Order: sequence, then C-alpha cells, then structure tokens
Amino acid sequence: MNVFKPTILALSVLASASAFAQVNVSIDATKPGPVINKNVYGQFAEHLGTGIYEGLWVGPDSKIPNTRGWRNDVVGALKELKVPLVRWPGGCFADEYHWRDGIGPRNKRPVKVNTHWGGVAEDNAVGTHEFFDLVDILGTEAYVNGNLGSGTPQEMAEWLEYMTSDTKSTLAEQRRKNGRKEPFKVAFFGIGNEAWGCGGNMKPEYYAQLYNHYATFLKTPPNARPKIVASGGNDNDTKWTDVLSRDAARGTDGISFHYYTLPTGNWDKKGAAIGFPESEWFSTMRQTLRMDELIRNNLAVLDKNDPKKKIGFYVDEWGTWYDVEPGTNPGFLFQRNTLRDAVVAALNFNIFHAHAERVRMTNIAQMVNVLQAMIITDKEKMLLTPTYHAYKMYIPFQDATSLPTAVNNDVAYSSDNQSIPGISASSARGKDGKVWVALVNTNPHQASDVNIDLKGQAALGATGQVLTAEAMDAHNTFEQPQAIKPAPYSVKAVNGKLTLKVPAKSVVVVSVDA
Ligand code: AHR
Repeated sequence: MNVFKPTILALSVLASASAFAQVNVSIDATKPGPVINKNVYGQFAEHLGTGIYEGLWVGPDSKIPNTRGWRNDVVGALKELKVPLVRWPGGCFADEYHWRDGIGPRNKRPVKVNTHWGGVAEDNAVGTHEFFDLVDILGTEAYVNGNLGSGTPQEMAEWLEYMTSDTKSTLAEQRRKNGRKEPFKVAFFGIGNEAWGCGGNMKPEYYAQLYNHYATFLKTPPNARPKIVASGGNDNDTKWTDVLSRDAARGTDGISFHYYTLPTGNWDKKGAAIGFPESEWFSTMRQTLRMDELIRNNLAVLDKNDPKKKIGFYVDEWGTWYDVEPGTNPGFLFQRNTLRDAVVAALNFNIFHAHAERVRMTNIAQMVNVLQAMIITDKEKMLLTPTYHAYKMYIPFQDATSLPTAVNNDVAYSSDNQSIPGISASSARGKDGKVWVALVNTNPHQASDVNIDLKGQAALGATGQVLTAEAMDAHNTFEQPQAIKPAPYSVKAVNGKLTLKVPAKSVVVVSVDA
C-alpha cells in the first residue's frame, strides 16, 4: 500500500481536488546528461531599496545582531541555502557605481544619490571589502559587475587590479592598507549590464566594440582571471546573443540574458503580488514557461556561432516582477512572495536543468527584499519566503548530473481557452549518488498521480518534501512566519510501481529509495 505522509494541510488540499490526473514521467538513469552547474542557483544583491542596506547590512554598531555589519539572522538563513554565487553591485546600479567611492574608512566615503532606485542617499557603506566579507561569511563566490555605462576602461581595469593583484603595485598596497592582504577571488566579472537600456541605451554592435575595448585592459595574475561575462539581451530578443557570440567572443565565458515573469506581460500594469485572480495565476505560469522557448531560441543562435559550446548562457536576472507593494517607495521594487513564486522558481529550475549544458549560471532577482526575494525583513524582523523554501528543496540538484526526463501523457491545465502543461518534471543523480526527482503541478485545482518509470535503477519508494497550501497566494508574514513551509513527503512503490501524488499547485522534490 502506498504510504503518503503529507501534512494535514496537504491532505486537505489533496482531498479538495476533484480527481487525480494520471501522468507518466520517464527517467533514464542509464544515460547521464550534463552536470547542472551549482551556479544555476546563484543570487543577486543590488544596491536597491532595502536589498542590501537593512536587508543584509545593518552596520557593526547596529542593535540587530551582526557580524562586522552583516546581520546574523539573514546571513544564517542564506547559509542554509548553500548559495553558490552572489552577483553585486547591480543591475542598473552597476553602471553608475564607481568603486573608489566604496573603499577606505566608511565615515569618509562620499554620499551619492542612487538615481536609479528611489533617489535615496547611498553612503557607500557597503563597498568592495564589505561585499567580499559577505562572500566569505556565506562561503559563496563573487560575481562582480563592472561599470561600462558611465565608467572608463581604466577605472574598470584598476578595480580588477585592486581586487586581484598579488604584486606590490600601488593599488594592491592600497587594498592591503584597507585591510585585505590576500587578493580577493573574483569568480565572475561582468562588463556592464543591460547595455540596451539602463546601461547606456546601446545597439549590440556598439556594445560589442566597447566590450572588446574594455576587456582588452582587464588583466589579472594568470591564476586569478575571473570568467568574463558579456551583457546580453532580454525577453524574446536573440540579436544580442547573435552579435556578441560573433563579435565579442574572445575570452568570453558567458553571455548574459534577462527575463522577468510579469503576470500580465504589461510593464505598466504588471499584476498584484497577492490577492490576484486565477487568471493571473495561469498567466504567470504561462509567462514563466516562456523561459524554455527563449532559452531555446538563444541556444540555437549560440550553437550556430559557437558549435564547440565554449560560451555559457547566463540568465543572470530572472524572477517575478509585480506591481510594487502599495504604500512603499516605487523605486524599491518591494513585493510579497507567495506559493505562486515558489512554483515559478521551481518551473524555472526545471527549465534550466533541461539546458544544463549551456545554462551554467543564473541569478534570481533578488536575494533580500527586492522582487522575488528569498527573505523579507522589516527592521529587526525577518521571514523566509516560499521562494526560499523552493531553493532549499532543490539543493540536491546543485552540481548533480542531469538525467533524461520526459512527461509522457501530461494532463494540461486550461483556463480561458488556453492551455499549459500541468506537470513539469526534472531529475538528476545527485552528488550523494541518489536519483532526485522534482515535480511541479501548475494546476491550482487538480492533483496528479505521477507514475515514475525509472530505467536503470530500482525504485522502492521516494522520500523528500512537498510545498503547497490552500490558497494560491499563501505567504508568510511576520505574525505568521511559518504559514507556508515544506512538509515531509514519502511514498512506497506498489508491485514495483512508484506513483507520486502531486497536490494541486505544488512543488515536490524527492530522492528515490533504491
Ligand atoms: O533587478 C532589478 C533591475 O532589473 C536590474 O537592476 C536591472 O538590470 C533590470 O532591469
């Protein structure tokens, strides 16, 4: 007999479904695919709203418990996510950031205006040394985004020298004087951001020339060279990928790409983060699933221009973008985060896994308090969002080996005469040797019985977690910080057949018991 042990909440969600849809998922464990780079689970922290100041950084003199200025509660929760990579300082902010403003004694740093984000004072309290301290505390890697838009090749080259030089150069000595003897490890370095928009409103051909110009002067000791990222296109555009992979490919490790999920697809009225109608649940799922097609279109271009697959495709900004929370600074991009966001995250993960060969890095926007955040703070209070829980459930996929996975007889989810897939699936062999399976049910009403046809390995049962709730917009609040969280999940095979019950609007991640 199947032993399904969901929470009481999950049980009632299951019971409310009219009937279980029957779906087959086949997994071939005999044909290991590309490794899912752990950097697919990267994060993004921009000088934007309370994303860094308050959300992460409170300063060493704060009453909020902190380590050299970084708040202990938030950092502690992030450490549990095994964050592999953090992109900083922007975003649009990167192309206005002058690194020298952020070094030396904090009380002597210039105060600037963050013109992109809310027009607030930016006192540069978090600069290069503070960022790398966060990187060390989190045990993560650094993706530093340089300023192409309003900087110069010299300024960019000198920042990289300051961070990475092991010589006695004046810049390296200045770094030592500012407290860091050993060079910082810059894993990735981006040359500008959204050059087609906030980064300078350029054409791809012009950016490609500038990119080559700036990249020429980026010099480091040979063993300290970061992976260099060219800033690419967004949404349904493939021209940037095409031009950059032809004209800006020398020494380039990856071309970036941005795509945000807007429920309505309309930037002027994106849709609400909570209290939305089912039509916007559906359209949010549909818009998210576009990620697959957008990646495919860009990879087709890359495969033509770079058949040896040297260049990675880095989705270094993605996530939901809703109308800002009423009553908050519109420039702070603060929004609530619900079960819908967790489902969006998981759908994206499954898509990224399917393109693991080229999609070697992604960064959700953003880590704390901004857009689709992991964590929300209000002064000394902190809560974990459903998106945080999705990231945590998917940790076993970091550096796992993807396995061919197919949903064979999906039962579509339909609304307003349109249909999208009901079940999204992904699987991989984790570094622990186990086969991990992730299933997402986009349908908010219909639970599914998913029969797992696993080739090449026994499947006696499955153990893991399920994330679901009664309401489409279930979310955590400071009063009820545990309103939505994962529940344990386990099931045993019957007569050699493994069937996973996947509740409506849920994410299930399990390892297969062999
Ligand atoms: O993530 C918020 C902003 O979205 C970034 O700064 C920018 O790159 C994008 O437009």
